[in-house]
Amino acid sequence: MDGVTVIDHPLVQHKLTIMRRKETSTSSFRRLLREISTLLCYEVTRDLELTMETIETPLTEMQSPILEGKKLVFASILRAGNGLLEGMLELVPAARVAHVGVYRDHETLQAVEYYFKAPEALAERLIIVVDPMLATGNSSIAAIEKLKERGAKNIRFLCLLAAPEGIRNFQEAHPDVPIFTASIDSHLNEKGYIMPGLGDAGDRMYGTK
Ligand code: URA
Repeated sequence: MDGVTVIDHPLVQHKLTIMRRKETSTSSFRRLLREISTLLCYEVTRDLELTMETIETPLTEMQSPILEGKKLVFASILRAGNGLLEGMLELVPAARVAHVGVYRDHETLQAVEYYFKAPEALAERLIIVVDPMLATGNSSIAAIEKLKERGAKNIRFLCLLAAPEGIRNFQEAHPDVPIFTASIDSHLNEKGYIMPGLGDAGDRMYGTK
């Protein structure tokens, strides 16, 4: 599918299967989410630009590659996005973090923002927006609208599972934002859950109902 990268690394797929199982406990789910987010982060950052820097090893001077440009931003869509942050920050500890809380008003269909905190200079940074589930796409579409209003230009979206309906809506709203996911599932059910999915990601990681 154009604009969508499915991260099919065997370790990702193996961990995802365990996360999907209904008998997987909250503590295992959380640990697996941290592990899988590290692997997803590795893939979503695979083509970052490098620049050469002169350094000195204990033996000699050399030219060595180092990440170019301003620090990355990981933008978490509250609340489930936070579950992906920990593993990603382990891999990129210098990344900046944005938090976006949005919901879609059922009457006006407008995105209502209830929380927004982001680092400065969004226009000059690569922003990786994270939310485990791309279901209807409403919250990720709205969150990215809010980031764009604050200047964000270079954005990628990373999730664990995506529904075809959500991908369609998302790409209509943000054709410039590539999607990275570990799986494209079958469909959304009548309650907006991804099928076969893994249930409510926030509830499974935080042990709520
Ligand atoms: N959000 C979830 O946590 N799970 C779904 O299946 C859909 C949206």
